[in-house]
Amino acid sequence: MHKPALLNEVLEIFNPQPGEVYVDATVNGGGHARAIAERVGEKGLVLGIDWDCDLIEELRVKNLELRNKNIKLVCDNYANLGDIIREHNLDAPCGILFDLGFSSHHLEESGRGFSFLKREPLDMRYDVKFNGLTAEKIINTWECAAIEDILRLYGEERFASQIAQGIERARRQHRIQSTAEFVEIISRSVPPGYRYGRIHFATRTFQALRIAVNHELENLENVLPVARDAIRTGGKIVVISFHSLEDRIVKEFFKKESKSGTLKILTKKPIKASWIEIMENPRARSAKLRAAIKAY
Ligand SMILES: C[S@@+](CC[C@H](N)C(=O)[O-])C[C@H]1O[C@@H](n2cnc3c(N)ncnc32)[C@H](O)[C@@H]1O
Repeated sequence: MHKPALLNEVLEIFNPQPGEVYVDATVNGGGHARAIAERVGEKGLVLGIDWDCDLIEELRVKNLELRNKNIKLVCDNYANLGDIIREHNLDAPCGILFDLGFSSHHLEESGRGFSFLKREPLDMRYDVKFNGLTAEKIINTWECAAIEDILRLYGEERFASQIAQGIERARRQHRIQSTAEFVEIISRSVPPGYRYGRIHFATRTFQALRIAVNHELENLENVLPVARDAIRTGGKIVVISFHSLEDRIVKEFFKKESKSGTLKILTKKPIKASWIEIMENPRARSAKLRAAIKAY
């Protein structure tokens, strides 16, 4: 089960009160959503969105068992937040939470190639119903230069060129289909020293592909202004990001909005997890939380 990162900090910032309405735009296993739902009580509501429909179905079943009537679930891209709020006739929310990226479910159970430690098909989509782009398609059909670009841009991978060339060489022989085969290609393309570095040598390449397949940065850029418009005056936006590319987008957006006076930044510096939380949940070590409140 995915452990929610920075849960106490999220609750402290939102300070949910009975009867209030919140949106959890990345509901996953419902860790944050359930804690907020408990506080807003029967008269309040949490609208939970996730792009992974399997997760939404699982959560629907769990909610029925737990009789959580104040959590409504929607399977959609949070980039469609404006339409989702309109379709559900939702009052202007007091807060919207984005806890970005993938989850333990994707790594451990999805079977969709998010983990470089498993042998799985190279898929990496959150949404397997409507998104036609997979990691396999990128690796086998994109031009070498385009692959190099995404590895450099989304993975900040310093051996982007070598890895892209390694991919090109390998796919001339046959189609690259599994994560294990792909990891082997990356391993052959990077210098020996890099293979035994602090982070696994495939980490940045996998991150880059996941971001490209799911258009993660575009989704985030598009949704922040929609979230600003959707929340009520005094409402809050909380974003938890897990790498510098996402964090930069949030930081720049909050800065621009605070200059124009629409948002007031609540976190001068991003909030990070305590060492106790990191010991219990190692994934929280790279979490950065930024929050802002709507001024008018
Ligand atoms: C880190 S997990 C959220 C964990 C959740 N807060 C919890 O405590 O259980 C991120 C979730 O965001 C979802 N996600 C990623 N991109 C999305 C998007 N564009 N729209 C909606 N959900 C998205 C993923 O499927 C994943 O389930």
